[in-house]
Amino acid sequence: MKIYVCKKCGNVVLKLEDKSEALACCGEKMELVNANTVDAATEKHLPVYEIKDGMINIKVGATEHPMTEDHYISFIILASADNYMIKMLKAKDKPEASFPYDKSYNKIYAYCNLHSLWLTEIK
Ligand SMILES: [Fe+2]
Repeated sequence: MKIYVCKKCGNVVLKLEDKSEALACCGEKMELVNANTVDAATEKHLPVYEIKDGMINIKVGATEHPMTEDHYISFIILASADNYMIKMLKAKDKPEASFPYDKSYNKIYAYCNLHSLWLTEIK
């Protein structure tokens, strides 16, 4: 899976098969998003997690990320090599997600509408 964003309108695309670079939006090539590359507060963006009773409870981040109309976490993804679980969020939601968990899941992504993509590897 790769994530692309339109720098003009903010559309975000999760590309499940990445066989060409042909994605475009607003008449321009969409930009590949790389996690943890924007200079912003890591404590508000890096997902933190707790595994308990077969569930993984995720928060963004160690200090809760704002959830206003202008600045919010729009989704959280729990990922393994071949499974994805996605929680879509809106302004005023809590920047949190809970999913059934097994040890195959090793990555948590969070996407901020202003500060892009953040990744925590599950140890
Ligand atoms: Fe942010």
